[in-house]
This record gives sequence, C-alpha cells and structure tokens, in this order.
Amino acid sequence: MIRKSVLLLIFLPFIFSACKGPVEKTSTISLKDIAAQLQLLDENVMKVQAEDPTTPNGQKRVMPRTINKDGSLAVVPAGDWTSGFYPGVLWHMFELTGRPEWKEKAIKFTAILEEQQFNGSNHDVGFRMFGSYGNALRLTNDESYIPVLEQSALTLIARYYENVGCIRSWDFNQENWQCPVIIDNMMNLELLFWASKQTGDPDYYDLAYRHAMTTMYNHFRPDNSSFHVVDYDTITGEVRVKDTHQGYSAESSWSRGQSWGLYGYTMTYRFTENIYFLKQAEKIANFLLGHPNLPEDLVPYWDYDAPGIPGEPRDVSAAAIMASALYELCTYSENGALYKEKADKIMESLGTNYASAPGENYGFILGHSVGSKPGDSEVDVPLNYADYYYLEALVRKTDLEAY
Ligand code: GLY
Repeated sequence: MIRKSVLLLIFLPFIFSACKGPVEKTSTISLKDIAAQLQLLDENVMKVQAEDPTTPNGQKRVMPRTINKDGSLAVVPAGDWTSGFYPGVLWHMFELTGRPEWKEKAIKFTAILEEQQFNGSNHDVGFRMFGSYGNALRLTNDESYIPVLEQSALTLIARYYENVGCIRSWDFNQENWQCPVIIDNMMNLELLFWASKQTGDPDYYDLAYRHAMTTMYNHFRPDNSSFHVVDYDTITGEVRVKDTHQGYSAESSWSRGQSWGLYGYTMTYRFTENIYFLKQAEKIANFLLGHPNLPEDLVPYWDYDAPGIPGEPRDVSAAAIMASALYELCTYSENGALYKEKADKIMESLGTNYASAPGENYGFILGHSVGSKPGDSEVDVPLNYADYYYLEALVRKTDLEAY
C-alpha cells in the first residue's frame, strides 16, 4: 500500500538540502537513512534481548526506549508508558514506504502488547495501545485488533472520576496528590473518541469531552501556557494544587506538556468539531510560536522558562509533537498557512541538525530529547516518542503536500 505521496519523499532530501541549516549540517536525513537506522535499532534490540533479556525484577525487555546513562541501549518492558511507540514507528515506516518488511515487524511488536489492554495502573494505556494497536487497525483494517482496543478504552475509563470530570493520570505520590491529572492525559482521549465511534456508545465520547473541558478550565493560565499537573479533591472535585513533575517549576511552561496540549486540543477538535477546542489549540500554538524563548530553529528548550537559557538542553520530542500537531491544526485553522510553514521549519531543523549520524545512537532516528530534567533522567538523549511523532509528522506532511 504505497501512498501516491511517497514519491514526494524521494525528493524531500533534495528540497531540504536546499535550505541552509542553522548549525553545522546542511542535509536532512532521508527516508533511506531512517530505514537504515531502524534496521540497526532492530538488531540492537535483539542483541539486548539475547544478552540481558529481563529487568532486575524479572520483566521481559521488549521495546527500545532511549540510551541509559551508562551508554547502553534501554530496552523496556511492555508495561512501560512508552512501549507503544516502537510498534508505532514501525507502522509509520510501513505507511511511508509500503514495504512488507516493516509491516511484518510492526505486527510482531504490536502483538507483544496484547496484555496491556488490561493495564490500568495509570492513564498511559492510551499511549501504549493507540500507538501500536490503533495504528495497526488504521493501516490494516484487520478486525482482530478491535476487541483489544475496545478493552483498552474500558480500562482507561475505569480511571474516570465523575466528581472531578477527569481521568486520573497517576497513582503515585499519594501523600501529596489525590487525583492528579497531567496535561499529557489529553493525548489518551483519542482512544476514547475512537471507541465511541466504533461501539456507538456515547459514554466514551462524553467522558473524553468532559475531561477536555475540565482541563481547559483548570490547566491553562491567562497567557495560554499550561500547568503540568492539576490535582483534584476526589470528593468535592475542587482543584487542590497546581504543580509540576517534569517541568522547571509549578509556574513554568514545561515544553513537552505544551506540545501535548497543542496536539490534544487539535485532535479533540477533530472528533468534536467544537470551536472552543479549535480556539484553544490556536491559542496554544500562538503562545508557543510567539514565545521569546523559542529558538530560531523552533526546537524548544526543555522548559520555556528554564533558568539557564540559552545554555539549557533542547527537547526534540517537544518539537516533533508540535510539528505533528501543527500539520493537523493547519488543516482546520484560518492561520493554516503560518502553522504549515512553522511545522515545515521544525521538520527541516530536526532532520538536519538533530538527526543521528548513520550508525549513531543505536539506530534511533533523532537525538537531543529530554525525559525529565528535574529527575536528572534522559537528558539530551534519543527517545522513542520523539522518533514516533517525527515520523507521524512526516506522514502528515507528505499527505498535505500530495493534494
Ligand atoms: N507522559 C510522560 C511524558 O511526557 O514524559
């Protein structure tokens, strides 16, 4: 199933290489280079699985996530919040190339996550299952994927608190939080909107809609930036505290969180056609694109308010999510031309100056992301979700430019 638009990809490297990169490199990573990287990543995953198959607590290592501090490849268990992204990367490669070998690998890695449909230990069931099984269904129409996704949606709504009007994101830190909801949780609504369409049950839609509304009221500041964590009282539904977990401070604008919000409200508009959600997405986009601390190459620092800017690490994952979201937003918004231009600029920057050199980074496509700076964890490293959203953005860009 090669898209007509795939031809364009052959020319993308030439188009991009005509644009001068702001740092040292001048040519973007090509689809051929990406394929070679991911082939290497696959081999490296198999090596880890052969040499060190389980984590210290006995869980099978299945999906590549990042590079550890000691320089080794981190291959994480199925229950990790990022486990859906590697199968998703493989599905995107199938979508971009039409080649059966990517489909075969994608099917294999997707199946590894089957049991995760029942994992309701946090809100991440949406990330795990929609990146893997969601893409699998979208690209194959194989109906055997449907019951797994339906069960995943059931698992997710079990975390919904009626009094709050939100899905609870996390269960840890109970000494401080009762019902913490993170801006990232907007991403998991896609599974619920899909489930409502699929089953005809309006409950999924209604809960997702209410979560988006509650979040719009409580997570956003007057300047349209968002808090990372809002904690609610489980009895009264009142906001208890506005906080952060991965940002610089409670009051700062954690970059990936801003991108999750942008993507989340754009996607919510797709399903609801409620103009307030579109306006929210536009407000976030305008806040980010007009931010004085957004560098010229449009790859944000890990937090827009990080104190050491310009000496702070960039977060490529925040940039990739932002690019993918802008490619969707540009199709709905009156400012579409601007959003498309900005998304193109991000893609040019990522492909030119943030891509791994051939053979580098165990085969991850991009470097220079940040998982948690306050946790001193995954700083300036590749992350599987940066690669996932980069490829998703490439698919969206290709589609947009084909018509
Ligand atoms: N949802 C976790 C993160 O963005 O790091």
